[in-house]
Amino acid sequence: MVVHNLLPALSRPTSTLSLRVRAKDVVADGVVSLVLDHPDGARLPDWTPGAHIDLVLPNGTTRQYSLCGDRWDPYSYRIAVLRERAGRGGSAYVHDRLKPGDPVGVGGPHNHFPLVPADRYLFIAGGIGITPLLPMIHQAELMGIEWHLLYGGRTRESMAFREELAQAHDDRVHLGPQDECGLLDLAAWLCEPLPGTKVYCCGPAPLLAAVEEACAHWPEHSLRTEPFTAADRSEPVRRTPFKVELRRTGRTVTVTSEVSVLHAVRRAGAEVLSSCEQGTCGTCLVPVLEGTPDHRDAVLAGHERAAGDCMLPCVSRSHSDRLVLDL
Ligand code: FES
Repeated sequence: MVVHNLLPALSRPTSTLSLRVRAKDVVADGVVSLVLDHPDGARLPDWTPGAHIDLVLPNGTTRQYSLCGDRWDPYSYRIAVLRERAGRGGSAYVHDRLKPGDPVGVGGPHNHFPLVPADRYLFIAGGIGITPLLPMIHQAELMGIEWHLLYGGRTRESMAFREELAQAHDDRVHLGPQDECGLLDLAAWLCEPLPGTKVYCCGPAPLLAAVEEACAHWPEHSLRTEPFTAADRSEPVRRTPFKVELRRTGRTVTVTSEVSVLHAVRRAGAEVLSSCEQGTCGTCLVPVLEGTPDHRDAVLAGHERAAGDCMLPCVSRSHSDRLVLDL
């Protein structure tokens, strides 16, 4: 069973830090890493393995990237960016135009994919999905907890950080370039549920689906994945307009069926970061003070939806005539 993890504190800031690109390096075919720091050398907000940031590029686009550097270094963040051939231009900008010294905005860090205690870990990565798992591996190593990594990719050259991993962690890292070995042998690794083991998987949707299926007979909550599944595309509960009150700014807007809650509140002057605008990344999470959201995202777990105290306004709407947001 897939567990979409608990969201962090709801009072997260909607503002961004002004950082700069300290270094940019090619780390695999089609993948560059960026090291970001504060222009004044100031400390950066703390983070935990599995966390991501919202990167606001100089051209105004926002994209999410997992932090994959040393969480004990308070002065820099490292991320890795895959060039998305079918993307909307964010990764192309990073690859082709962004250079050391350039300013970037950074929102977060946020963590929807935290490392929970376990007797041992099995990490499964596909391609750029290695990034949130790297700090988890370092954390497991630090705590002396047994772990293994299954890491697949199109080709060996396309697999970022493979040398860093193989050198540091020898026989616990199992590399599986598809052109050499075929698909990862999930059946061999997952046929026998291991009590006390947590399986963390990040990668493309087919890999997540295959791991989910292979873990179907494992104890509940054994598997944790990043929420890459598509958001709910069914009809919203109500087609009629509803009101959204922005409690902190004291404004109220009417949301019709033609507009998202996100765009309506932005028009009213609220600053809310967004990235995917499809309900799959979690960037636009806002706290709900009153009213009942109609959750249409792929991020919140069942109990988080039931709590009704937060929503993703890029896709989610309202059951009630009125929603009050902490904005
Ligand atoms: Fe990605 Fe709303 S912007 S979930």
